[in-house]
Amino acid sequence: MSKPKILVARSIFPETIARLEEHFEVESNPNDESWSKARLIEKLQGRQGVFTTGSERIDAELLDACPDLKICANMAVGYNNFDIDAMTAHGVLGTNAPDVLTETTADFGFALLMATARRIAESEHFLRAGKWEKWSYDMFSGSDIHGSTLGIIGMGRIGQGIAKRGAHGFGMKVIYHNRSRLDAALEAECKASYAGKDELLKTADHVVLVVPYTPASHHTIGAAELALMKPTATLVNIARGGIVDDAALAAALRDKRIAAAGLDVFEGEPKVHPDLLTVPNVVLTPHIASATVPTRRAMADLAVDNLVGYLVSNKPVTPLNPAVLAAK
Ligand code: GLV
Repeated sequence: MSKPKILVARSIFPETIARLEEHFEVESNPNDESWSKARLIEKLQGRQGVFTTGSERIDAELLDACPDLKICANMAVGYNNFDIDAMTAHGVLGTNAPDVLTETTADFGFALLMATARRIAESEHFLRAGKWEKWSYDMFSGSDIHGSTLGIIGMGRIGQGIAKRGAHGFGMKVIYHNRSRLDAALEAECKASYAGKDELLKTADHVVLVVPYTPASHHTIGAAELALMKPTATLVNIARGGIVDDAALAAALRDKRIAAAGLDVFEGEPKVHPDLLTVPNVVLTPHIASATVPTRRAMADLAVDNLVGYLVSNKPVTPLNPAVLAAK
């Protein structure tokens, strides 16, 4: 029997391709070319599955043009590149890569928080530029992490990981805001208490955003929310571009309405709002929160498990729209 055909839309570990080739006829993208939507549609003709990384948009237009497609396996926990309703309507399964990146991403959220609060990037640039001539008492004074109040917006698995690091490792008081409140046992484990969004923004010394991107979470933080924050506060976004109004944030940073920000994700990335590039009090990283080799391997493996699970044994591991399975 001939093997199902799949497409790997971006460059990935050779071991991932080798695993896929055990089960599928694979076309890959070893040179990591940027394919337009039309090119992606062309490449998908006659293919039942696609391995995506979060940057490929799967919507009704593409699905209409790719009638053989059965599954899109995202190597990312976030899946705002998928129009899930359109996928369900077309009988196409979507899968993501949750859990395997939780601790790595929580580590990074904490690293970015510390770099932001303690002005690590800004002071390193100063040193590299040869500007360090003498020590002074107030040089790059930042704000404390230990003993401060950490406000987490979005208390899923990654948010909980950040809460535990803050509460147990740094003695922080942790407050969180989420669509639904955690049960009491989980709140106790994270040493976190629930707060309204405005209360959190007014009270926290450090605000970390970990909410998924949906139309409802678009610009969760804009000018009005930034105005509620303390002038000494920091803001960290490891969630998705579009959760923060980047233009409003750049203005708030420039005017010192908040002290500093750390951003791993951007509206319209890989483009970055030009005003963010000109303010010193922001740490900018290129969407690398889950980037450790073991974690990226585990994410790729989970995407492979989903493709094999669905196209070979009809048992995907992490389906996003199980209605497709029920309708089969
Ligand atoms: C990364 O941003 C992911 O969603 O996995």
